[in-house]
Amino acid sequence: MSDHSYDYDVLVIGAGPGGYVAAIRAAQLGLKTACAEARETLGGTCLNVGCIPSKALLHGSELFHEAHDGAMETFGIKTGKVSLDLDAMMAEKTKAVDELTGGIEFLFKKNKVTWVKGLATFQDAHTVQVGDTTVTAKDIVIATGSSVTPLPSVEVDNDKGLIVDSTGALDLKKVPKHLVVIGGGVIGLELGSVWNRLGSDVTVVEYLDQLLPGMDGDVRKEAGRIFKKQGMALKLKTKVTGAAVKGKKVTLTVEPAASGDAEEITADAVLVSIGRRPNTDGLGLENIGLETNNRGQIETDHDFRTKVDSVWAIGDCVPGPMLAHKAEDEGIAVAENIAGETGIVNHAVIPGVVYTMPEFAGVGLTEEEAKEAGHTIKSGKFPMMANSRAKANRDTDGFVKVIADAETDRVLGVWCINSVAGTMIAQAAQAMEFGATSEDIAYTCHAHPTHSEALKEAAMGVQGKPIHM
Ligand code: FAD
Ligand code: NAI
Repeated sequence: MSDHSYDYDVLVIGAGPGGYVAAIRAAQLGLKTACAEARETLGGTCLNVGCIPSKALLHGSELFHEAHDGAMETFGIKTGKVSLDLDAMMAEKTKAVDELTGGIEFLFKKNKVTWVKGLATFQDAHTVQVGDTTVTAKDIVIATGSSVTPLPSVEVDNDKGLIVDSTGALDLKKVPKHLVVIGGGVIGLELGSVWNRLGSDVTVVEYLDQLLPGMDGDVRKEAGRIFKKQGMALKLKTKVTGAAVKGKKVTLTVEPAASGDAEEITADAVLVSIGRRPNTDGLGLENIGLETNNRGQIETDHDFRTKVDSVWAIGDCVPGPMLAHKAEDEGIAVAENIAGETGIVNHAVIPGVVYTMPEFAGVGLTEEEAKEAGHTIKSGKFPMMANSRAKANRDTDGFVKVIADAETDRVLGVWCINSVAGTMIAQAAQAMEFGATSEDIAYTCHAHPTHSEALKEAAMGVQGKPIHM
């Protein structure tokens, strides 16, 4: 039942995967709902400048690479001279983005969610200024997401296309001859892969001694080997200390992370991808007495309540991995909690995927985290080289690793590298949600021949009994 002293039962600030999902679920639960969004289109970072355009370019560039660099010829397909129409590839990406952002607008209408256009600023805990209008609501959900962390001394200018962030790298007008990626994390490797496949020489400058922080140690080691094999130059344990633009070139100064002699690298484009930070500037948190933590995040309890009564927060602006599906699940849970139901997200089982080729995916604890948490572990590792489908498809890079508690056999984490790792990891996540042991996975019948059999064999390996190795 609506409380008529407010314009809405729920106002969600931000229409990314966290906010738009929260708004739709709140409306589905019978609450009068509005969503404030400053951007011209709905869908947030993910649909406009994140997950979707990057995956469109990853797909397009992989098709080009297969046709151009001999993968098709391996199977006897003669394509003749293959050339790239970058404008057409970009147009197809834009079409996918438009279809999906338009789709959210349709879903808002269908579910009677009102889109209030403009930048939202809190006046008090129930009143928000959105552009020229004032909106009041009984409950307010902050889902303002995140944006690129700047690197002092390397100033991004997406319009010039010389020093860009992820948004600029999704929209370069031509293939840079030499692209330097600062940060060997998810964005650096996905977008570095796109341009590497399209013909750029790619150098990745990473501060740490390995790529992909947060992933299992074995996966990180293998990632270095795989990306090197794909032609990327890796400068690990290296920091960038400055950038100078001269004409159409950028000269970066880099030096060893632990200090040492500086050197210069000249590039035709530079991608800054050193992480993202929560969006809370201009939100007027001070007007409701809400502070952010030292990482700029809004802290919540298990139900996504902030310290301020009736104000909730989800997605990239709260602690946890900055992932679209984590934001979506929190969106559903927060709406259910506001409606008086029980909304829960199991933060221990959130899969993460890097959509390169092969894909890198994981869920649960890394081996290092499991040991640190005091578990005695047993693990099984199965190479894709011994998987029949990967052999038949000639895509044998990678492995699957299952980490289980040695005493209880309960699965603590699953890590995989292979061409379908992003799809495979769903099975592992589901098994872990049901509290599976490695034996449960090992005795589940997996279709043959599939890459997924490698997960079964890795699980068999926990007890020391894989068949095909
Ligand atoms: P966002 O999507 O950032 O949405 C927040 C929205 O709030 C924005 O539209 C913003 O305009 C709006 N907003 C902010 N402040 C205000 C205000 N004061 N008033 C009104 N509106 C406001 N994640 C994955 O899981 N898989 C991927 O493949 C993936 N790929 C990515 C690729 C790239 C290049 C990038 C940059 C990110 C990628 N991510 C991916 C991360 C994913 O995009 C984010 O985790 C996700 O979008 C977070 O959702 P959110 O709803 O919390 O915030
Ligand atoms: P990231 O945290 O994944 O990687 C940043 C990398 O930069 C790290 O390896 C870090 O050690 C390095 N770094 C930091 N400062 C540096 C410096 N000064 N010099 C050199 N290296 C430095 O962040 P990224 O790639 O920017 O992505 C941001 C977030 O967006 C990700 O954490 C992820 O949550 C999300 N994302 C998710 C995707 C997916 O799910 N497939 C795809 C793209 C982004």
